[in-house]
Amino acid sequence: MSGVDLSTTYLGLELDNPLVPSASPLSRSLDNCRRLEDAGAAAIVMYSLYEEELRHDEEIMTRFLIHQEAGRAATDSFLPLHEAYQRGQDQYLEQLATLKESLDIPVIASLNGVSRGDWVEQGKALEQAGADALELNAYYIAADPAQSGIQVEERYLALMRELHGLVGIPISVKLSPHFSSIPHMVEKLAREGADGVVLFNRFYQPDIEPETLQVTPRLHLSTSDEALLAMRWIAILYGRVSVSLAATGGIHTAMDVVKMLLAGAHVTHLCSALLKHGPEHLIEVKADLERWLEKKEYQSVSDIQGLVSQRYLGDPAAFERANYVWVLDNYTPAASMRR
Ligand SMILES: Cc1cc2nc3c(=O)[nH]c(=O)nc-3n(C[C@H](O)[C@H](O)[C@H](O)COP(=O)(O)O)c2cc1C
Repeated sequence: MSGVDLSTTYLGLELDNPLVPSASPLSRSLDNCRRLEDAGAAAIVMYSLYEEELRHDEEIMTRFLIHQEAGRAATDSFLPLHEAYQRGQDQYLEQLATLKESLDIPVIASLNGVSRGDWVEQGKALEQAGADALELNAYYIAADPAQSGIQVEERYLALMRELHGLVGIPISVKLSPHFSSIPHMVEKLAREGADGVVLFNRFYQPDIEPETLQVTPRLHLSTSDEALLAMRWIAILYGRVSVSLAATGGIHTAMDVVKMLLAGAHVTHLCSALLKHGPEHLIEVKADLERWLEKKEYQSVSDIQGLVSQRYLGDPAAFERANYVWVLDNYTPAASMRR
């Protein structure tokens, strides 16, 4: 058995290690969640409960009530549809309760939406159903030229403020990388009560199908290369903000985990790697992480957290503009281009 201490703290939760599967369809199945726990997951973030689902529920309920008022004949024709539809919210709460009952590790529920309104109140129901923490994912595409950056930020802050007023459990915000000042935004979220941020939300880019002139959704799984985006910002934020830092995007191997920890992450979220290789992939990542720490003679994960953050680096500019000119100027074109 390894003598290395892998424990870490995230959102005030004491975790056995920094490996936390992020929101994905895996958490829709209890069997997969058990496999993740057995493979070493320190906590689980559930798939999201979407604002759209909750609004759809409200619409269905309104239609049902209108039909009821319209008379029994109309109600009868509507009932099968209503009965066939188990409310997304109920299903989610049921799954959360099942996971809480069956797993020993903390379960983080995920609320996903962008507008203010009643749907945010679901946070209270998630807390009552036993969620150990909440992740707020405001997947928002700012497409209106009349809307300023400050207005976009206010949308996130208002959601955070509202949720914080409703629940007592810790809240993390899964953020977009598209803010003018990420550190300032994180600071403002912390002032509204955020306990952590998850960097970064991955936006699925729609593609254009030239033959049919259709816009088609495209979802591809990540590779380790994508981890560099979150790594830079975690390295910049570490020690400067008071919130927990979770890294998501492109974390596939123990080396990806090590690099995020060196940058300053408190936990690392895996999704694509687990969808690709299955829950047991975590066994290998955890074992490799332990081996690396042992080989380097570190005693614990906390020994390396933030070691290569901007705060502790000899050359703090390395994460900023420095190297930018050097990297571009020193790019070597292919041999055929050098004649
Ligand atoms: C199939 C799939 C489903 C996902 N579902 C959710 C979701 O319900 N809520 C959410 O916040 N993120 C969701 N994500 C995003 C992941 O949690 C993760 O942040 C992102 O995929 C980047 O991590 P990765 O590079 O390890 O895949 C999903 C990703 C995939 C691939």
